[in-house]
Amino acid sequence: MHRAAMYDERIDEYLNRFLPGRHPVVAQMEAYAKEHQFPIIGPHVGRLLTMFAQSIHAHTVFEMGSGFGYSAFWFALGMPEDGRLILTDGSEKNRELCYEFSRRLGIEDMLDYRVGDAVEILRGEEGPFDIIYNDIDKLGYPAAYRETHDRLRTGGLFITDNVLWHGAVADENPDENTRAIQEFNRLCFEDERFFSTILPVRDGLMVAMKREPGALTL
Ligand code: DHB
Ligand code: MG
Repeated sequence: MHRAAMYDERIDEYLNRFLPGRHPVVAQMEAYAKEHQFPIIGPHVGRLLTMFAQSIHAHTVFEMGSGFGYSAFWFALGMPEDGRLILTDGSEKNRELCYEFSRRLGIEDMLDYRVGDAVEILRGEEGPFDIIYNDIDKLGYPAAYRETHDRLRTGGLFITDNVLWHGAVADENPDENTRAIQEFNRLCFEDERFFSTILPVRDGLMVAMKREPGALTL
């Protein structure tokens, strides 16, 4: 099920007025998502991903849950041409769609898209990555957290979508998915090896920076 953003529609409309026109292929990706009710992060979160990649000079990104490559496009936009992204997803069809779009965007050579269980694939990688991105099935969030720290460089970012889950994280009787996200949020904030914050953009974006070992805790 695809649910609406947490913002009310007026605010969404207001924010959207500031967006510059999209590359025609990116516009097609957004149209595809709308038509197939595929939950993409949208351009506001997308621009944050570009900014994060660019500001920490990311060369290597690992994505858990890539869909057809919408978030990867925004990361790639903030990376040098020799930057590398590993994409993961359970769907062969999404992989094919991703290569179709990314070929037309000219970023195909930066991508290595692997079909399978995202957390398992990350487990098989040494890293270190500059950014690890998490947007998998919500029940898998705690497992994604557990595999991330050791594969991220110091100063690297662990970025996770949907951490406010349409506001359900504040529910008194949370369902199973919501409980997994609540646990994930608690794990990130309690882990002093990370410096974490939640940006309440769209559905909530967790940004957890891997700190210097031995850095002072606040
Ligand atoms: C939904 C949104 C997401 O960004 C996602 O990763 C999964 C589900 C949703 O709105 O249901
Ligand atoms: Mg998501």
